Amino acid sequence: MRYYTNVKDLGNLQEAIKEALEVKAHRYDYQHLGKNKTCLLIFFNNSLRTRLSTQKAAQNLGMNTIVLDVNAGAWKLETQRGVIMDGDKAEHLLEAIPVMACYADIIGVRSFARFESKKDDYEELILSQFIKYSGKPVFSMECATGHPLQALADMITIEEHKETARPKVVMTWAPHPGRLPQAVPNSFAQFAVAAGYEVVVTHPHGYELDPKFTEGATIEYDQMKAFEGADFVYAKNWSAYQDGYYGKNLEKDFPGQFNEDWKSWTVSDRQMAVTNNAHFMHCLPVRRNMIVTDDVIEGPRSLVIPEAANREISAETVIKRILETEF
Ligand code: CP
Repeated sequence: MRYYTNVKDLGNLQEAIKEALEVKAHRYDYQHLGKNKTCLLIFFNNSLRTRLSTQKAAQNLGMNTIVLDVNAGAWKLETQRGVIMDGDKAEHLLEAIPVMACYADIIGVRSFARFESKKDDYEELILSQFIKYSGKPVFSMECATGHPLQALADMITIEEHKETARPKVVMTWAPHPGRLPQAVPNSFAQFAVAAGYEVVVTHPHGYELDPKFTEGATIEYDQMKAFEGADFVYAKNWSAYQDGYYGKNLEKDFPGQFNEDWKSWTVSDRQMAVTNNAHFMHCLPVRRNMIVTDDVIEGPRSLVIPEAANREISAETVIKRILETEF
């Protein structure tokens, strides 16, 4: 594997999950793979879990790690060709990428959707330039349209906790004061379908995701109906994907236009009561009492900490595969 940007890069997902569980049981057994190799982690956006877990994963594999926060200490980067650079951006990505690649054997990139252009976001303007111009293996640490390290960690977590062969997994939209990318829900839906689960996606009208990512899932606009019999509930906010509304918070940006009781979507005991004693999941960070109530996230069926712990394992599995095939 040279690039990791979506579920297809893993081949058979259930095989990858099995491999990840082996990695989890023997996480320091592969140090020879990364000896004298450097993993460069480039962040265009903030992070807690990805920053820590991916460094830990690379170090488990014997690698050196370098972390660069592009917006805190590096030169501001221009990303578009043809721009007259007379503003505050001192360096172009097209020089910066090959320079960064000089110091790295493998590169991880975090670059969220900017919501300036749906086309640029869905063509992964930043990530694709790293793939094109670095000459190095590249993996996504959450880019504009996907968060495949998070989704793999979530699948590992579901496999560890499922009580039936084919659990019902419900991904629900939930309220947020801001406008968040579609990366996490895109990847979660795509991975959960690929894992063979019964997948239901529930959200208010207007929050339909790119159908490319939800193919194979059932879309249900009635949240209570969606939750009935669920084994796992995955909550997440996302902004609108549809043309004309792309990147918008429909409640804040179009007040009164949508006939929706937004607050009723917060996951609480009311919805969890109709599930099959479902586990609660969220990628974190989470806005309590917007996305989920204190009681549910602190409850005995909450998996938010095991999911975060499995971020180390998903990253180690991916970097291990790159080291095994590319060096
Ligand atoms: N879930 C996740 O990617 O967390 P961070 O944004 O803190 O890395």
